[in-house]
Amino acid sequence: MRLERLAYVSRSTDPEDQLLAFSDILAQSVRNNRAVEVTGALSFTPGRYAQILEGEGHALDTLLRRISVDPRHCDMRVLDRGPIEERLFPDWSMIVPEFSPEGRTRLEDMVAHDEVSTAQLVDLFLEMLQPRRGKRDPLAGSGLA
Ligand SMILES: Cc1cc2nc3c(=O)[nH]c(=O)nc-3n(C[C@H](O)[C@H](O)[C@H](O)COP(=O)(O)O)c2cc1C
Repeated sequence: MRLERLAYVSRSTDPEDQLLAFSDILAQSVRNNRAVEVTGALSFTPGRYAQILEGEGHALDTLLRRISVDPRHCDMRVLDRGPIEERLFPDWSMIVPEFSPEGRTRLEDMVAHDEVSTAQLVDLFLEMLQPRRGKRDPLAGSGLA
């Protein structure tokens, strides 16, 4: 299995109903990703999504094709994508990091600027997940459980 990781950022097409859309997206992600051994993390800030995906290259291609035509977002910009030795989010088919106020500000700044990289998003997501590593419930602490 050749593992890869990528991240992308996009814009919500319906910022008013973003929270509702987000909980549906999360439920779909948890269900589908498990079946194809994709793992990762997803966040939303006002009007924006940021997602990190890890998995076998072919599984990621198939998933990206679906995600890229999803009408709930637009302006999807895939950041760098590359091979990885191991997963950084092995325990979660899709986790929602719980951002501190400071972390949320950093996230908002990152997605608003074009120079954001997968590595920067990964670092921030992992930092925000620190207290929860090892817990397997993807909805714990997200406010959506
Ligand atoms: C920001 C965003 C992230 C998404 N992430 C995933 C994902 O990780 N896995 C997934 O299966 N679908 C994801 N989706 C949803 C897909 O675009 C698509 O609606 C879904 O996979 C269809 O699944 P279903 O046929 O089981 O309903 C995402 C959609 C958006 C807008």
